Amino acid sequence: MQDDESAIPPSDPLTLFEVWFAEAKESEPNDANAMALATATPDGLPSVRMVLLKGHGHDGFVFYTNAESRKGEQIRANMRAALLFHWKSLRRQIRIEGPLEEVSEAEADAYFHSRPRVSQIGSAASDQSRSLPDRKVYLDRVAALEQRYPEGDIPRPPHWTGFRLSPRHIEFWHDRQYRLHDRRLFTRESADASWSNTLLYP
Ligand SMILES: Cc1cc2nc3c(=O)[nH]c(=O)nc-3n(C[C@H](O)[C@H](O)[C@H](O)COP(=O)(O)O)c2cc1C
Repeated sequence: MQDDESAIPPSDPLTLFEVWFAEAKESEPNDANAMALATATPDGLPSVRMVLLKGHGHDGFVFYTNAESRKGEQIRANMRAALLFHWKSLRRQIRIEGPLEEVSEAEADAYFHSRPRVSQIGSAASDQSRSLPDRKVYLDRVAALEQRYPEGDIPRPPHWTGFRLSPRHIEFWHDRQYRLHDRRLFTRESADASWSNTLLYP
């Protein structure tokens, strides 16, 4: 059978991520940086939700959240996670797995204060993932913060922070003709080890 296009190259996976991410930013209608984040309790109960990728490089993939949320509690108890990008318009998927570490306070402050003021207020006012008796309770908390800090930055709540996933597995999947899809898995034992890779049956 004739192959339809070139295969996923066995190049450096973080460079390959850059290439695919750049193409996704061009092709996706919005939020090319949206990714599913899977976490699990220490006894193995999984949960998944979308978050936004807010930084990436050779040291890992960064997202920000409320560390007292459901995901935050799971992360605190089990500092490992999996990320999934699915870029529908490109028919591509990337799966990334590895240990997490919290970003530094300076990094969290810098990102928090780079957000629009209204977003800073919204997250400072949110007890993310806890029961909200009435939406008005949340809006009142937003209004109270607006009044307390009428201008300038809002202090970052200490539980609003970021986590960096240091990749140990990165798998690229690309749709190919006749569902003969292409998969290449890159693995490494530690952050400073070199990558190995293999094709996988689709
Ligand atoms: C496209 C998209 C992006 C999101 N980005 C974030 C994010 O960066 N950080 C975050 O805490 N929640 C984000 N959310 C909300 C989460 O999916 C989730 O509802 C929230 O974090 C609570 O999750 P938890 O109860 O599992 O902790 C996003 C939701 C969507 C649909």
